[in-house]
Amino acid sequence: MTGTSRGLGLELVKQLLERGDRVAATTRSSERLLAALGDGVDTSRLYPLTVDLRDETQVKQAVQKTVERFGGLDVVVNNAGYGFLAAVEETSDREVRDMLDVQVVGVWNVLRAAVPVLREQRGGHVVNVSSVLGLTAVPGWALYCAGKFALEGLSEALAAEVADFGVDVTIVEPGYFRTDFLAQDSLALPAGTTVHYPGIREMVDNHLKLQGAQLGDPVKGAASIIDRVVAGEGPLRQVLGSDSHAYATAKVQALLANLDATADTAPATDFPTDS
Ligand SMILES: NC(=O)c1ccc[n+]([C@@H]2O[C@H](COP(=O)([O-])OP(=O)(O)OC[C@H]3O[C@@H](n4cnc5c(N)ncnc54)[C@H](OP(=O)(O)O)[C@@H]3O)[C@@H](O)[C@H]2O)c1
Repeated sequence: MTGTSRGLGLELVKQLLERGDRVAATTRSSERLLAALGDGVDTSRLYPLTVDLRDETQVKQAVQKTVERFGGLDVVVNNAGYGFLAAVEETSDREVRDMLDVQVVGVWNVLRAAVPVLREQRGGHVVNVSSVLGLTAVPGWALYCAGKFALEGLSEALAAEVADFGVDVTIVEPGYFRTDFLAQDSLALPAGTTVHYPGIREMVDNHLKLQGAQLGDPVKGAASIIDRVVAGEGPLRQVLGSDSHAYATAKVQALLANLDATADTAPATDFPTDS
């Protein structure tokens, strides 16, 4: 599992260890993970791994070491991620690459190393933590949405590719959860802003104020993710939170209206078919 020293990842680690599962937990800082777990948690079945997810070699070694220690992989959880709030034109080349390095390249590094193991085992489960913003986009969240939409696309394709090997894939789509996600040191902001998007600046303030008051309970969120994996079956997308469900429903309705509006014109670009 990736991104484990805080938030949903940390809660998953705690609950899995409490269940008696063995957990290989990657983080940018194993010290931070162990400090966050504290003395009250039995860490004898924990394998903490300090990994830079952007580095393919480090990721590959982490997966190999995990397989050596545990004898295989049951569940692979891509959880690491962070928010970024800015207008499209305010987002720099570096900021785009940094986000995609974590949310797309990093996930791909994990999958490239882990999927062959699951395929050879003829079984396993990949859990990719996306967001409702992997389904619908709102102003200010373009870069985050770009990363999560990409994660949704690759996950959907992966699910179809590995189904015949007995490997299951779940895309988790949380709404606002009360983790550190919106904390000042987690939510990333652009190096430079313009005067043209006062609505987005207001949104940043409102989101920072929302920290600690989000609707979603990470304890219940982690439990729900574990339940889905243990059940071994369920829909591809695991929507978490009533806010997420409402946003996703509105997106699907808007998409259907868009399809209806183009139903007559779409076939106009086809070559004629022989009748
Ligand atoms: N909370 C929400 O409202 C919400 C809503 C929808 C989706 N999500 C998604 O849920 C997942 C977990 O987030 P969370 O809510 O638990 O937030 P969080 O409390 O801020 O934790 C995020 C985790 O991701 C890792 N991470 C953050 N930035 C990273 C970077 N630049 N490189 C590598 N790892 C990084 C961190 O791992 P280490 O520090 O241990 O390396 C951290 O444990 C994310 O993918 C997030 O996008 C959250």
